[in-house]
Amino acid sequence: NLCDIGFIGLGVMGKNLALNLADNGYKIAAFDLEHQKIEEAIAQDKTESGTGGRIIGCSSYTELLAKLSVPHLIILSIPAGHIIDDVCHKLIDAGIKADDIIVDMGNSLWTDTVRREKEYEGQFFFFSTAVSGGEVGARFGPSLMPSGDRYAWARIEPVWHAIAAKVDPDTGRAIERFEPGNPVKIGDPCATYIGPGGAGHYVKMVHNGIEYADMQLICEAYHVMREGLAMSPQEIGEVFSQWNEGVLESYLIEISAEVLKQEDSESGQPLVDIILDKAGQKGTGLWTAVSSLEIGSPAPTIAQAVYARSLSTLKDDRVTASKLLQGPKLNHALKQDKQSVIQCLHDALYCAKICAYAQGFQLMQMASDEHGWSLDFANIAKIWRAGCIIRAAFLQSITDAYSRNENLHNLLLDPFFIEQINIHQANWRQAIANATLLGIPCGAFSSAIAYYDSYRCETLPANLLQAQRDFFGAHTFERVDQPSGKKFHVEWASKDRPIVTA
Ligand code: 6PG
Repeated sequence: NLCDIGFIGLGVMGKNLALNLADNGYKIAAFDLEHQKIEEAIAQDKTESGTGGRIIGCSSYTELLAKLSVPHLIILSIPAGHIIDDVCHKLIDAGIKADDIIVDMGNSLWTDTVRREKEYEGQFFFFSTAVSGGEVGARFGPSLMPSGDRYAWARIEPVWHAIAAKVDPDTGRAIERFEPGNPVKIGDPCATYIGPGGAGHYVKMVHNGIEYADMQLICEAYHVMREGLAMSPQEIGEVFSQWNEGVLESYLIEISAEVLKQEDSESGQPLVDIILDKAGQKGTGLWTAVSSLEIGSPAPTIAQAVYARSLSTLKDDRVTASKLLQGPKLNHALKQDKQSVIQCLHDALYCAKICAYAQGFQLMQMASDEHGWSLDFANIAKIWRAGCIIRAAFLQSITDAYSRNENLHNLLLDPFFIEQINIHQANWRQAIANATLLGIPCGAFSSAIAYYDSYRCETLPANLLQAQRDFFGAHTFERVDQPSGKKFHVEWASKDRPIVTA
């Protein structure tokens, strides 16, 4: 009669993951510091299963361990930060053993995960599994990014394969069946072993960085249609619904279309018009941008998406500035007709999205090389095809690209993506020109094209930059006509000449 899995943290994500596990035949011993949450999970289990009894409430860590079969498998779905360590210490005090496994399923900072794995070695297996998919994903099939000890993985793998989202292997598309008690059993599970230590949380962090970029790109397309073409949210929602039938088919486009079509129940106005334009963030996009700066793997579209959120929070400044700083008149007629402007935005969104993914995947590659993770990018793209927030038809093309060439340096170099950008780039450039002429910010579109144009540039002006550095600081430079690595410094002819100021 013992339970199979201990579950700590029954917030929305935790409760739904616990119910998903229960649907798949696992009996759960559940604990949360807020007793009310345990009651809610038990009640929902009863409503959904008819009988209940799949989730058993516990009132202490000791009781939780007593109700579990050995060796224990305990899942934490609690906020990132010191609380993870607090709970681990409570479980040590309650008698957890070296053969037991604790899985962190939160959005932890990957370096914390690396530290924790070492710190708890010998006391229990600290394993991590990053989860994407929001509350619906957690309930009916998330994308799971597990990492840590291989022995622990062998025990966890069947559980994760059962609860993860599934993809039809023939079409590469999600198999969706959102019914309690009736989980999807067939198809490729969106759960694959990512690597040792913090690799899973790192990959999820980059997933979120891409998510930020994807969301910001959609917002910029909306902004141009709303302000530049004076389209109603409903009309823009219709455009997004059409886009969702083609290469841009994705969860984020789909939900954006739904959001734009929704009215406020009180005022009857489009709900989006009533939502305050100040974006929140919990940190994972920022971590991705910081990591890209530290590693030296450019991810400007991801960083720009973080900056766009920061800038949105300067609401008071923006209100003041809007009255003082001038831009072009918004009624300044564009040379294109409305349908062409919309088509350009579509193509810009597609190309910029390719660049954001290229940035994210190259960042993961450099991190993988630096930390010896041997990440498998075809498999990572595969488990993002369903369940997660950035799921999109387009992830099958990324899977194909890395299956064709596992050593692909950058997605932009894959023949399929080379062709796609060639077809669509004129419109991408035109969309940025349109937005800029109208004075509508499109930082993510522009950062992506700057990335693309820089990446394809055989000679960048870094030659002049190196010369400047050598001029004022003798920082040396390499020469194109000499072996790589050999450093030169010259006495710049005018260096000692006094600078004449007016
Ligand atoms: C996911 C989401 C999820 C969460 C984000 C929100 O993959 O399921 O990314 O993890 O919704 O962390 O992040 P922000 O609050 O920073 O937008």
